[in-house]
Amino acid sequence: MPNKVFIHAFGCQMNKLDAELALSALRRAGYEEAATPDEADVALYNTCSVRAHAEERVYSNVGKLKSLKRRKPSLIIGILGCMAQKDGEKIFERLPHVDLVCGTREFPRIAELIEEARRLSCARRSSGSAKSRADRVLACSEEAAVSEAREISVRPNRRRAFLGIMRGCDNYCAYCVVPFVRGPEISRPVAEVVDEAKRLADDGCREITLLGQNVNSYGKSFTPSARALADLLARLDKVAGLARVRFITSHPKDMSREILEAVRDLPTVCEHLHMPAQSGSDRVLAAMNRRHTARGYRDLVALERELAPGIAIASDFIVGFPGETDAEFDETAALLRDIRFQNSFVFKYSTRPGTAAAKLADDVPWEEKRRRNLALLEIQAAVNLEENRKFIGQEAEVLVEGPSRRDASRLTGRLRTNQIVVFEGPETLAGELVRVRVESATPLTLAGTRTMDDGGR
Ligand code: 5AD
Ligand code: SF4
Repeated sequence: MPNKVFIHAFGCQMNKLDAELALSALRRAGYEEAATPDEADVALYNTCSVRAHAEERVYSNVGKLKSLKRRKPSLIIGILGCMAQKDGEKIFERLPHVDLVCGTREFPRIAELIEEARRLSCARRSSGSAKSRADRVLACSEEAAVSEAREISVRPNRRRAFLGIMRGCDNYCAYCVVPFVRGPEISRPVAEVVDEAKRLADDGCREITLLGQNVNSYGKSFTPSARALADLLARLDKVAGLARVRFITSHPKDMSREILEAVRDLPTVCEHLHMPAQSGSDRVLAAMNRRHTARGYRDLVALERELAPGIAIASDFIVGFPGETDAEFDETAALLRDIRFQNSFVFKYSTRPGTAAAKLADDVPWEEKRRRNLALLEIQAAVNLEENRKFIGQEAEVLVEGPSRRDASRLTGRLRTNQIVVFEGPETLAGELVRVRVESATPLTLAGTRTMDDGGR
């Protein structure tokens, strides 16, 4: 009987990609996927350590597996990824029922590591001895991976894929643990990315989102040119079958005119950026080591809008960074109001051990962080509704993804600027570009009717 593996990824798309990487290695080793830990022989959790909250969720979710493990002692439980890399040994203390801790750099060896954990666990159970640290496997090497090129992508549905084009980060923003847990920035070679995009397109994929922690500095590890991402986009633009290409996440300091011209000129490249501002205060931005100012950010947005009118810009914000005053927070709120982002992800600051900001007192009270968080979300929700309402009466190009999850009798798709649109039509339209006239809007979705100039299929 084949082994069954359940795998769950916490956190960002990068983590989901990593989980996919582990899964494909396990499939090659003969594993099948299980839908729940109950049905599995091995339960793996790919973790995220970017925010403390994400870590707590891992501890609480995996903590709950204790009784399952008691009922089924042969179940191998593994913690993978960022948090494993960072906490290593400590995870066994908080989660004694875990058998394997595997850092981000050991993924290619995952099948081997599971076998080792299983062997140790079996030997202990048959000898009847009490569980000890020596029965578990810890694999968290500090060395940078030789080849972490991931020939891997995540497909949320047949028509869309997320494709990792680089990993790691060299930026060392003061609050951020990514450079420590993911290591230095390494880009995948252009030819490899293009080949994978071709394979995806041949398999029916119409939209690709390129992923990197700092995607607009793609290629820095192999070319001195600032054009690397623009050149890659030009190559992808020619891949037959691909209708749309996006790339996330961009750092404002690395945004180049060449990339923006690619957005303007290449038909497949969507007018959509995720470019975190993090704060609207220059004092806070400097303390965060962001290497951009609020003015610089505003000017960059103006250039982006000049080159690609209607471009959607999404951002991340951190509220309650050490020392953030009311007045500094107000500058962030003003930035949100002025720029009118398409979307804002707002996070309450949490101290990440080992980062530069961990040396600063985490002095904004939790209640105040919560207030600031809600205040930004409120501004953003109002902007979303106003901006989405502007689409009413307009006709736009939608890439159809398939039946809507909420209402299977309707279809869902996205605009080039990433807004979700629902409308009626046959399922056979999945993967097609259609024209939809928008008739109503909520802060998160648009709804409309297909117009017939797409052939009325
Ligand atoms: N506390 C709160 N938010 C953080 N982020 C990264 N590190 C922290 C932290 N220590 C946020 C940033 C980043 C997003 C992925 O997570 O806004 O852009
Ligand atoms: Fe973290 Fe900054 Fe790198 Fe983003 S750019 S991953 S916030 S260090």
